[in-house]
Amino acid sequence: MTAGEIRATRRIVFSGLGALGVAAALAGCAGDDGDGGGSAGPKVAAGAELATTAEVPVGGGIVLTDEKVVLTQPTAGTFHAFTAVCTHQSLLVTSVEDGTIRCANHGSSYSASTGEVEGGPAPSALATVDITVDGDRILAA
Ligand code: FES
Repeated sequence: MTAGEIRATRRIVFSGLGALGVAAALAGCAGDDGDGGGSAGPKVAAGAELATTAEVPVGGGIVLTDEKVVLTQPTAGTFHAFTAVCTHQSLLVTSVEDGTIRCANHGSSYSASTGEVEGGPAPSALATVDITVDGDRILAA
C-alpha cells in the first residue's frame, strides 16, 4: 500500500487526492447520522494505533473518519494530529494537501502544522490530539 491510498480494511481514510476529497465532501454534506459528521470530538483510546507513518504522505495527511482525527506530516518525519471536526459547522474536514487541512464543506482551511485557521468561515483552530510515534506506528497518546 502506498501513502495516501484508502485503507478500507479497518476504516475509511481520505487523503488529499482530488476524487477522494469530493467523496469526503459529499460524506460531510450527508449530515450527522450519529457516526460520520457530528460534533463529537475524536474517538480514540490512549495507545490505539491510528495509522502507520507510511500512510501519511509528506506535505499532506489523512483524515480518519471513524476516529475523527486528521494526521499530518508537514515535513518528513514530523507528525501532527488534530480533531477532524471542523470548527465551522462541526462536519469532518475533507483533505490535507500542500501543508493545508481543507474542509470542502464550506471552504475552511487550517495549517497542517498547527491547526490554526488559514481561511474560510472557521472561527477557531482545530484542537490538537496527542500522539506518539512508536517505530512506524502512530498511536494515540
Ligand atoms: S463545516 Fe467545515 S467549513 Fe463549514
